[in-house]
Amino acid sequence: MKALFEEDRALKGMYWVQDAGACSGVYALEDGRTLIDAGNMYGLIDELRDLGPLDRIERILLTHSHFDHVGGVQEIYQAASPDIYLHPLAREHLRLHREPFPSFFDALAQDNKIKLLYDGDVVEGAPALRVIHTPGHTAGDLCFYDASSAALFSGDAVLPQKESLSTVLSKPDEVCGGRLEDKIKGLQKLLKIPVRHLLPGHGAPVFHKGGDQIKISLFTLYKSLYGDDAEKAWITMGQDLLASGLLEEARQCVAKAAEAGSQSEEARDLYERIAAAEVERNTRGGG
Ligand SMILES: [Fe+2]
Ligand SMILES: [Fe+2]
Repeated sequence: MKALFEEDRALKGMYWVQDAGACSGVYALEDGRTLIDAGNMYGLIDELRDLGPLDRIERILLTHSHFDHVGGVQEIYQAASPDIYLHPLAREHLRLHREPFPSFFDALAQDNKIKLLYDGDVVEGAPALRVIHTPGHTAGDLCFYDASSAALFSGDAVLPQKESLSTVLSKPDEVCGGRLEDKIKGLQKLLKIPVRHLLPGHGAPVFHKGGDQIKISLFTLYKSLYGDDAEKAWITMGQDLLASGLLEEARQCVAKAAEAGSQSEEARDLYERIAAAEVERNTRGGG
């Protein structure tokens, strides 16, 4: 288990239990009172016990319904009876797993242990976590954002691109309502949030420059979508960055688009809109 506050003191009380194979990693917050995801790996309970008595676990926040993130809930529940928080669509998709898993969750619901989360909700605690609904990988994907440390718990919605399985593990799962168009919208939404630390469901956390992973994920999608048309991928990325107020990076995209090919009308239009946004920003800054 890794203490995340060793990287940044703002990540107070946070730990990471490393992912194992295709099983997701697990984050313990508030010295173990709150978990994000439950993984599906052997020995998780023993690692959590290192933080203190297991009955201190009060709640598990689930990023989505895939078994590699929720499989460990049963074992933790037997030890600590935490409340389980998730998006209503993820709740529905839990029914797709093999028995006895769906029946287990039905029993939890009857005991009022299931709490539904929606976009914009805030899970109170230390830190408070903002709920961001980012459908795309599945329809019920949630990210959790801690504004005090600018940390984003991203589940499979954003995975570090250097990990070899990232593209496979974060691709849209149509059975659970995943759609590429939604994934793009979800990443565009995340682009507007200042992210310093990316705490993903697979792969190691990316400290201090975590926000770059959102940009890389989105650009990787555009590259796969537009194939040989590199200029189109750069322009589309530039438009998204402009919409998020990231003017410097938007300008870099225009330069890359120019390197990649012709000076299209779209590229000129983007260039002019960035320039106008810069003037507006400077005027506002001066006034
Ligand atoms: Fe996963
Ligand atoms: Fe997943």
